[in-house]
Amino acid sequence: MPEITLTTLQSLKAKGEKITMLTCYDATFARVASEAGVEVLLIGDSLGMVLQGHDSTLPVSNADMAYHTACVKRGNAGALILADLPFMACATLEQAFANSAALMQAGAHMVKVEGAAWLGETIRLLAERGVPVCAHMGLTPQSVNVLGGYKVQGRLESQARQMRADAIALQDAGAAMILLECVPSELAAQITQAVRVPVIGIGAGPATDGQVLVLHDMLGLSLTGRVPKFVKNFMAGQADIPSALSAYVSAVKDGSFPAPEHGFNA
Ligand code: KIV
Repeated sequence: MPEITLTTLQSLKAKGEKITMLTCYDATFARVASEAGVEVLLIGDSLGMVLQGHDSTLPVSNADMAYHTACVKRGNAGALILADLPFMACATLEQAFANSAALMQAGAHMVKVEGAAWLGETIRLLAERGVPVCAHMGLTPQSVNVLGGYKVQGRLESQARQMRADAIALQDAGAAMILLECVPSELAAQITQAVRVPVIGIGAGPATDGQVLVLHDMLGLSLTGRVPKFVKNFMAGQADIPSALSAYVSAVKDGSFPAPEHGFNA
């Protein structure tokens, strides 16, 4: 696969071609996923749950993230590598700089932060220093204790209005990409239309510029037995993992995933 850059993702959005993203935590899956055509490998702090067995992402450290980012970099065959800044990694600007530097030096091409408009200054200063940032909005799992659970966000019109304004504010602050998790499909469509940067969705309906899933979920693996509504098992009917990953790429590209039943209403 040719090397995927931020410019590639911007041109995919401009052409209306869907962007494929998948979480990835090690070298072997990085090779298989990038060779299957996954354009963005996300070293998600979901590794705290699917690899480490925690019941939330909060225990994950920046050192954990840097370790797995370096593993993914060694196996990657041309995908863009996006790494999560974990819980409290951006509590101060100095921490945001140091933690982002560690992830970029481990092999990330972009970092992801969870939050809303209050992140604007952090995003602007990171972008000015050479760190592209993806803003993760909607359901932000690092704030599960504030949100009171893993719930759909933006269902009330006042919340939807705020999320639309926040997305534009973060783009204007310098965010290179936006990720929307668990928001009503209609709201995700409006945000995707309103911003110039690529918008990736998970549980955000079919209208976003691209899709992401947690690798273990889409392979039908679950530690807890709880499978979110927005997940499809791509292993079903496939002989092996490379075929399942290729099926995911094809389904995102041709728009057959996500189907209406994978989305949420307001
Ligand atoms: O950590 C993660 O895997 C994520 C995805 C759910 C988007 O942020």
